[in-house]
Amino acid sequence: MSDFDPRPSGTGTIAPPKAVIDTVNLTKNYVMGEMVVRALREVSVTIHRGEFVAIMGPSGSGKSTFMNMIGCLDRPTSGQYFLDGTEVGRLGDNDLAAIRNKTIGFVFQTFNLLPRTTALKNVELPLLYGGVKNRGKLAAEALSRVGLGQRMDHKPNELSGGQQQRVAIARAIVTDPVMILGDEPTGNLDTRTSYEIMALFQELNRAGKTVILVTHEEDIARHANRIIRFRDGRVERDEIVEHPTDASEMLLNLPNPDAPPTVEA
Ligand SMILES: Nc1ncnc2c1ncn2[C@@H]1O[C@H](COP(=O)(O)OP(=O)(O)OP(=O)(O)O)[C@@H](O)[C@H]1O
Ligand SMILES: [Mg+2]
Repeated sequence: MSDFDPRPSGTGTIAPPKAVIDTVNLTKNYVMGEMVVRALREVSVTIHRGEFVAIMGPSGSGKSTFMNMIGCLDRPTSGQYFLDGTEVGRLGDNDLAAIRNKTIGFVFQTFNLLPRTTALKNVELPLLYGGVKNRGKLAAEALSRVGLGQRMDHKPNELSGGQQQRVAIARAIVTDPVMILGDEPTGNLDTRTSYEIMALFQELNRAGKTVILVTHEEDIARHANRIIRFRDGRVERDEIVEHPTDASEMLLNLPNPDAPPTVEA
């Protein structure tokens, strides 16, 4: 692939090539009566295709606000945001929803599955909005990819937490988005299940998906190739992880709950 960018340069408003996310002085203020909460202060971040980024920082530092902005769930107060080369601030609501549906898959801490609906139907949902025809087949493929080919007819309350998060990941990837955004996707899971979910994100990342996850846990963040740390609505540190943890290797070293119990002599 060539690095040649056919677009005119020097206009100051064109994103660099292959950046999936490019924010320029992104700012978000929440007005609460007399008070203004400065949730994001002139954040300029570029994330390229294929990166795996962890977002960290204390509670209230602006992580979720940043994710909501880059996920096109909310609009910035000022600054620019280029998503896959398109300046999002210039789009109307319908175009915004369309680009969001096409480009981004979301995974949340609390899974956000429809309760009385099977795994298969939950995963079909984003395709319904997109008007796709072979929804059942695509949803079944996505569920198989996350290791839930045998659980398609289960409802969320018939699945473990880790399995529910897998359904949510299948729902996030079923549209074949460019990137996956997760706000504390392992926040409600035990250690082993967290590693299983991180192994899945690493696999998706190796297959080319850009992955951006918020986490409070340093050991979870170290599965990423890059850690961006927020403080008081600003980027405090932006670092490359030289040797990311391999989640599937970590799993091999954890006690296996399915192994038969060992009897001491
Ligand atoms: N809808 C809102 N209205 C008003 N203030 C808000 C709103 N959402 C967030 N804030 C404020 O903006 C700041 C950043 O919040 P944000 O949710 O981005 O933090 P966070 O880093 O995700 O924190 P946590 O780790 O607790 O999830 C906080 O001071 C918060 O109180
Ligand atoms: Mg948050």
